[in-house]
Amino acid sequence: MKRILLTSAALLAGTAASAQTVGFSQIGSESGWRAAETTLTRQEAEARGIDLRFSDAQQRQENQIAAIRSFVAQGVDAILLAPVVATGWDSVLEEAAEADIPVVLLDRRVDSSEDLYLTAVGSDLVHEGEVAGQWLVDNKPEGECRVVELQGTTGSSPAIDRATGFRNAIDGAEGIEIVRSQTGDFTRSGGKEVMESFLQAESGNEICALYAHNDDMALGAIQAINEAGMNPGEDILIVSIDAVPDIFQAMANGDANATVELTPNMSGPAFDALEAYWADGTEPEKFIQTESRLYTQDDDPMAEYEARKDLGY
Ligand code: AHR
Repeated sequence: MKRILLTSAALLAGTAASAQTVGFSQIGSESGWRAAETTLTRQEAEARGIDLRFSDAQQRQENQIAAIRSFVAQGVDAILLAPVVATGWDSVLEEAAEADIPVVLLDRRVDSSEDLYLTAVGSDLVHEGEVAGQWLVDNKPEGECRVVELQGTTGSSPAIDRATGFRNAIDGAEGIEIVRSQTGDFTRSGGKEVMESFLQAESGNEICALYAHNDDMALGAIQAINEAGMNPGEDILIVSIDAVPDIFQAMANGDANATVELTPNMSGPAFDALEAYWADGTEPEKFIQTESRLYTQDDDPMAEYEARKDLGY
């Protein structure tokens, strides 16, 4: 039976005149994209007069669970959760639901029942991987193409879904093969380190392309490829996800080829949904989807860099 998340008492509390209090359990600051999401959430909260209580989990799920418990104890009006991994949330989400505190998931998904959260704001992560894979299918050189993959944080929904989407796109294409795949934990240093080990392990074999689950890992890998005396973007094609300013600079220099945009403005739609819910109990859709579009070197990367460089990345 469907669980009822909000009681009338909670609705009344939500419509009180005082500022709404929202706890935000953020994963950490592993990437430029994550930094921008944090900045924009703080700005959105301030603009709407919301009292935001921020907790940085330093990439650890146990810290996020502790933060949510603390937000529940404080009696916040809502919780934003960017979940580091997809599993292991049932108990703490049940605790929030029992306290009638709506939870909104940001940018990543969980495998818990949908009844345990109000809505999830994010992109179609499988589609992002498919867009990246299709770009490679359409742009790979003639003949065999050996691909290396830098995966995101193990167990996170973007790592799982972006891997699936990419494979969906290349599966029917002739000659494309993923020869190495390892996590770089969504960090620039992880991307560099793992790319160095790929290059070493594959020395003597041609690598045609790198697929990185985010731009930061691609940027680290570009450094590794340069240091190995090769030309990223030419000798090894680079396709990644996020559309952070630095990847546009790399594209302008010819070092990267394509990126799929993930907007860091997840909190705007999240706060819109919460405000409607607080006002009269309006239930949003369970998934509020943000757009994913592809950018290549043909899209005036320097202009894209300029447009994004002061947005908190
Ligand atoms: O969940 C979104 C992903 O998390 C972003 O693509 C990545 O940069 C971040 O760390």
